[in-house]
Amino acid sequence: MESGGPLATWRRLLLLLLLLLLPPGHEGPALRHILPTQQRTQDLPALHLTNGPGQEPVTVMTFNLTKMIKTSSSFEFRTWDPEGVIFYGDTNPKDDWFVLGLRDGRPEIQIHNHWAQLTVGAGPQLNDGRWHQMEVKIHGDSVLLEVDGEEVLRLRQVSGPLANKPQPIMRIALGGLLFPASNLRLPLVPALDGCLRRDDWLDQQAQTSASVPASLRSCAVESQPGIFFPPGTGAEFSLQDIPQPHVEPWAFSLDVGLQLAAGSGRFLSLGIPGNPSWLSLHLQDQKVMLSSGLGPGLDLPLVLGLPLQLQLSMSTVVLSQGAKKEILALPPTGPGSFLNLWAQPQGHLFLGALPGEASSASFCLDGLWAQGQGLDMDRALSRSQDIWTHSCPQSPGNGTDTTH
Ligand SMILES: *[C@@H]1O[C@H](CO)[C@@H](O)[C@H](O)[C@H]1NC(C)=O
Ligand SMILES: *[C@@H]1O[C@H](CO)[C@@H](O)[C@H](O)[C@H]1NC(C)=O
Repeated sequence: MESGGPLATWRRLLLLLLLLLLPPGHEGPALRHILPTQQRTQDLPALHLTNGPGQEPVTVMTFNLTKMIKTSSSFEFRTWDPEGVIFYGDTNPKDDWFVLGLRDGRPEIQIHNHWAQLTVGAGPQLNDGRWHQMEVKIHGDSVLLEVDGEEVLRLRQVSGPLANKPQPIMRIALGGLLFPASNLRLPLVPALDGCLRRDDWLDQQAQTSASVPASLRSCAVESQPGIFFPPGTGAEFSLQDIPQPHVEPWAFSLDVGLQLAAGSGRFLSLGIPGNPSWLSLHLQDQKVMLSSGLGPGLDLPLVLGLPLQLQLSMSTVVLSQGAKKEILALPPTGPGSFLNLWAQPQGHLFLGALPGEASSASFCLDGLWAQGQGLDMDRALSRSQDIWTHSCPQSPGNGTDTTH
């Protein structure tokens, strides 16, 4: 064993240095240098599980099964996100794989191999923003899941002798899958806005490679639940994919809870890619400004913590917050009408800055509802990679630094 020796300390320092020297926002195959046998060890900083839009794992490790003696993995895990992949493991992505994820905030295991094909949920709700200790063990033919020191699941007759696998290499991917999400037994959105620390994967002696973690975010900032848009970031939903307007009479509502806001710039708009401002809300000078692209707009003072509501009808837009209310009149028909916008296949709801648009506005939402139903940033048509989908910094000054 070398884990306590000066050599091991040196290697950890080297890896730490490498991590610190990495430019932020780097991702993709270019970063997938293979290091010699190297393991994330207890004294490394926590690792954020987000890499871009969430399809890519943040790191992949490989293990030689013929050398593997220890068959358990343990880590601490923290998130506010109810859904996503914690880790994926396989010897073969077709017929021998394993996934540990969260669904509705609770652990879920999916297994597909020669002995078993199953999907099972177990254990307590974990998306409470606290650190939870988790351990997954392969023990004989069984797989065990422990959460905070308690065994919450024991699956029997689901595994065979590891050394007899036709392909003796096991891959472990953190925060993503090594196949399309549609290949899961029960699909889920892999992106997980969460952090891992004190992680120890299988048998260090059997590890043959590890890619340099390509994480976009730091876990150093204290977070709270929400959706955070750093300056210049944005997301788009197709109007066809979100709850539809009421028909007779035509009506549509959007509710947003603004917890934090700083800077100036676009906050929300409705339109089409070539003409994104049929209706738009901007943040400026501690005000929320509403305009329709057709004429003069109006504004409300920015009040944090109270839900802001936009109610659209054929001929008016009502912007209200608490007891304050402003009404903007619109031409009910013609090229600028809402009926016309919803009839467009390209009709979009834009949040934050448009692609390429300069903006200093950053904000934290405690939610976003269309027709009273919450919208999930993981299901947006497209979004900036830097958006925090399920968390916000506790103060705005701390959120804009996304470096390691
Ligand atoms: C795995 O380890 C065994 C035993 O040390 C060795 O013979 C074999 O070549 C290794 N396989 C790979 C793919 O590294
Ligand atoms: C940012 O967070 C650190 C601790 O994580 C804290 O000491 C500091 O005051 C925070 N900065 C701001 C601007 O809130």
